[in-house]
Amino acid sequence: MTYLLTKTLHLLFVMAWMAAVFYLPRILVNVAETRDEAAVQRRLHLMGRRLYKFGHYMFGIAFVLGLALWQGWRIFPGVLPNVIGSMHWIDAKLALVAALLIYFSWCGRLLKRSEAGGALPSSLALRWINELPVLLLIGALYLVLARPF
Ligand code: HEM
Repeated sequence: MTYLLTKTLHLLFVMAWMAAVFYLPRILVNVAETRDEAAVQRRLHLMGRRLYKFGHYMFGIAFVLGLALWQGWRIFPGVLPNVIGSMHWIDAKLALVAALLIYFSWCGRLLKRSEAGGALPSSLALRWINELPVLLLIGALYLVLARPF
């Protein structure tokens, strides 16, 4: 029961984090396309700041739950199973998760720079950049479901 509840909550917070990872660059696209509308810029920057903070909270909780699924058996041997054993899919998955977190933090930096009056990449470039997390997420999901190594 605890294991399945932990995994259910892990997926819930992973989904919430990924929603922020996918939406923040969309806000940046809108910021890049409304440079001469001051009121719209203020609203978009505020939305972006709130989403960025929300995303970090969701990641933090998803990470702690993932850690419990990964290493919890060492502390609660009777409650959580050792689901990884000697396999290494988790190492590759965490590398992709780290890349997603770096991507999200970079988008947060772009937002802060834009709010301070700094330049943004073009909206076309931002639309392409927005596709990168999709590829990283497909990789992370395939690794955790297929466990190829
Ligand atoms: C983008 C981020 C992440 C995604 C999309 C993701 C996705 C998933 C999915 C779909 C499962 C269920 C797999 C199954 O039941 O077969 C899962 C389980 C798991 N995740 Fe994550 N996860 C993410 C982040 C993390 C992080 C940061 C950690 C470690 C700190 C982690 C560790 C685990 C572990 C150990 C399991 C349990 C596997 C099992 O029950 O056999 N995950 N994850």
